[in-house]
Amino acid sequence: MKVISTVTGIQKQLETTHRKPVGLVPTMGALHEGHLSLVRSATLECAQAVISIYVNPTQFNDKNDLKRYPRTPDSDLKLLNTVLREDDLVFTPTDSEIYPTPDKRVFHFGNLDNVMEAKRRPGHFNGVAQVVSRFFEIVKPDIAYFGQKDFQQVAVIRELVRQLNFHIKISSNPIVREPDGLAMSSRNRLLEPQIRKDAPVIFKTISRAAEMIRKNDIPEIKKYVTGNINERAGFEVEYFEIADDRELRIVESRKEMEKGKKYFGCIAVKAGKIRLIDNIEFPLL
Ligand code: PAF
Repeated sequence: MKVISTVTGIQKQLETTHRKPVGLVPTMGALHEGHLSLVRSATLECAQAVISIYVNPTQFNDKNDLKRYPRTPDSDLKLLNTVLREDDLVFTPTDSEIYPTPDKRVFHFGNLDNVMEAKRRPGHFNGVAQVVSRFFEIVKPDIAYFGQKDFQQVAVIRELVRQLNFHIKISSNPIVREPDGLAMSSRNRLLEPQIRKDAPVIFKTISRAAEMIRKNDIPEIKKYVTGNINERAGFEVEYFEIADDRELRIVESRKEMEKGKKYFGCIAVKAGKIRLIDNIEFPLL
């Protein structure tokens, strides 16, 4: 693999090798098995893979969150070296490479930018759209890979591709979990020990909730989810919503779930000082 930190460097390398298709895996580093599953898909499906590592300041609405976001460049490169091939590229740009001038673009994603994460993290998806569109313009990938853990991000990026008319296939991989069920996340390493021990309650609870839909309606399920998680010390549910995976229309009763759509229960939990998200598919009856 080659590690390159400039836009001209990465573009020159892509031109020289000229392999197609090109697969892009955008990341913010602090890599784990979830990222590696995306990287493996890119190397299996694409002649050349580009993995970007860049902590994008414009998507953080909380400056402390940006400051404490884990950064582990040496172990990231070691991990990537176990998976990548000779001509695959790791792109590690600085802020001035990505934003030579401040990015003032404002995106409009309608309902996608009004619910769940968007409501609690104003400006977050605008920042994601800025950086992802910039990566798409620089790398011009054929396929871009994202994790299904960031359920709403995947929907926003599909819409970004549609609005900006990028000819890029968006591929989303299933959530990779720790043996105890906790969804892998770069933020997990920031959890305090007791909170980390109790964190599997999130996946256990939403798994049970997905079974409950057979016999119970959504208000009861929401009550169960919030009650079961909030009874743990240090845990507080921010939201639990059931929405379809394309338009993210939130349903409040089973009657509103339409055939032909896929629904997911999506949750955000404050676990100690750290905010965790997870989701699970809700079967249609
Ligand atoms: O999912 C992430 O890690 C980030 O939001 C992304 C897509 C790399 C953009 O910074």
